[in-house]
Amino acid sequence: MKITVVGAGNVGATCANVMAQKELASEIVLLDIKEGFAEGKAMDIMQTAALLDFDTRVIGVTGDYSKTAGSDVVVVTSGIPRKPGMTREDLIGTNAGIVNDVAQSILKYSPNAIIVVISNPMDTMTYLTLKKTGLPKNRVIGMGGILDSSRFKFYLSDALGAQATDIEGTVIGGHGDTTMIPLTRLATYNGVPASSILSADALQKVAADTMVGGATCTKLLGTSAWIAPGAAGAALVESIVRDQKKIFPCCVALDGEYGQKDICIGVPVVIGKNGVEKIVDYKLNADEQAAFAKSADAVRNMNDVLKELNIL
Ligand code: 2OP
Repeated sequence: MKITVVGAGNVGATCANVMAQKELASEIVLLDIKEGFAEGKAMDIMQTAALLDFDTRVIGVTGDYSKTAGSDVVVVTSGIPRKPGMTREDLIGTNAGIVNDVAQSILKYSPNAIIVVISNPMDTMTYLTLKKTGLPKNRVIGMGGILDSSRFKFYLSDALGAQATDIEGTVIGGHGDTTMIPLTRLATYNGVPASSILSADALQKVAADTMVGGATCTKLLGTSAWIAPGAAGAALVESIVRDQKKIFPCCVALDGEYGQKDICIGVPVVIGKNGVEKIVDYKLNADEQAAFAKSADAVRNMNDVLKELNIL
């Protein structure tokens, strides 16, 4: 198994690091355009191999896509991150061109790869990648919902005084501060509905905190979060390379499911060796369905900017 991570910034390097520790592949290539940067990050990771007991080889390269040849999965983290006060959507002008170039370069050397998109604005970057590469829709997957759901589980666990691992919680819709939809109705504490334990206000606060979970980190850190985004990317790759068939909310192309077409947006899917193996119908109630339609409208507006930028 061979995995490539494009972009050796905070998110890319963290993702590679977690994947190496989990030994998800015999080889992980970390690629960046900044001279020597990926090599440095790869070396730093490899200098932990003896300490953390892993066999995966992480190799850093500067801009040389030929070294990524034959990758089974490619994770795209390229582009600029948010600064405090910025939305993920503010990044589109810069990141769209970068992600488009990266997708073409990847496919030249790894025509069979499954592409995982992390770059922001993630829903639009996933749509762009799908449209520009013409790949089948099971092979282009945006990672946003896994991260947002992990944040949701964290805030739920905090409110419930429980372990995050005892919590089920799913966030669907766009990966934006105002477009994501934490499904509070379906959240459980080991099968017990969270709504039967927490007050409506407390649950509402959990949802609101989740939606700005990334923005809150950005404000505190001065740049985008990377530990949870990197780990969430690694969880997605793990379900692919180990064919785990996990149900994760991921940004995928819809063709009528959840009432939407010609869009990539977060819905629950089964992830396995073929990438997206199935879109799962959570049977949303009317309020949730309305919120999803509104979220899709916002994502579609952002996708339209690609046309204004003459990228699509
Ligand atoms: C986040 O939500 C980077 O989009 C990522 O932190």
